[in-house]
Amino acid sequence: MENSIPAVEIKNLVKDFRTSFRKQMLRAVDGVSLRIMPGEVYGLIGPNGSGKSTTMKALLGLVAPTAGQCAIFGKDSLKVDSRNDVGFLPENPYFYKHLSGAETLRFYGKLCGLKGKVLDERVSELLALVDLEGARDRRLGGYSKGMLQRIGLAQALVQEPRLVILDEPTAGVDPIGSRQIRDLILKLKERGITVFLCSHLLEQVQEVCDHVGIIFRGKMVKEGKLDELIAIEDQTEIVVKDATPELLAEITALIEKSAGTTLLRTGKPRTTLERLFLRETINREEQP
Ligand SMILES: Nc1ncnc2c1ncn2[C@@H]1O[C@H](COP(=O)(O)OP(=O)(O)OP(=O)(O)O)[C@@H](O)[C@H]1O
Ligand SMILES: [Mg+2]
Repeated sequence: MENSIPAVEIKNLVKDFRTSFRKQMLRAVDGVSLRIMPGEVYGLIGPNGSGKSTTMKALLGLVAPTAGQCAIFGKDSLKVDSRNDVGFLPENPYFYKHLSGAETLRFYGKLCGLKGKVLDERVSELLALVDLEGARDRRLGGYSKGMLQRIGLAQALVQEPRLVILDEPTAGVDPIGSRQIRDLILKLKERGITVFLCSHLLEQVQEVCDHVGIIFRGKMVKEGKLDELIAIEDQTEIVVKDATPELLAEITALIEKSAGTTLLRTGKPRTTLERLFLRETINREEQP
């Protein structure tokens, strides 16, 4: 069945680079394996220089693996047609500064063989999707970093890919822009598009990804379903609104009475810094 073919399959990927210093070899990726099933949002996280971009480039056939295989929807990455269904946002996307947002998307659409009314409609649809309709005729030279990332995302979606590969989609973007990009990724997920992204912003990864892999010095050190990786199996959290001190005392007494259970902590749940920031900035604007 179509759905049982992984969207991404990387097997024992190794990538060595020759460094100029005494022609030594640098192992950027050291035996990485991962599998992403269709419809999943997979986040590869790891510190700077751990091999995230190199893994993505090998998957896209942009660098040749030293050893191992990569495949997209069952097609080997070394074959050109493996890239038919893939959109890619590179680490440092480069665009022509003198083109407007709409012209940029038209350019990429034409490269993908779109033309006429279909192309016009696709450009408008993408500009709406990334919330740049208001800036469609402005030159990219005047776009902010967040707007450029969103045009980059729109570019990656031009040919309606089934897999989208995003290298640091929120690099240099403020929390409000990051939230727009996160919402966009969730929209892609709703449409059944597989997303493979990498980042070192853990909180953002936690909010969009259902699967994560942690890469460190070229090696995959932990991988799996996010919920399972971060769950503390032997603990349970109960969050109560407007509890009276009496009720809390009763609950505490009940826990203390039952054998084998321990009350570890009570208190007010904390919000995250990001949520606090958003509440104090953009959400404040939305209030009358
Ligand atoms: N073309 C290249 N030639 C030589 N070394 C390279 C090349 N590309 C990457 N490397 C090296 O491979 C290692 C992994 O780099 P990579 O760009 O994959 O890391 P990364 O996890 O994407 O880091 P970052 O978070 O900074 O983007 C680094 O040590 C880097 O210097
Ligand atoms: Mg990188």
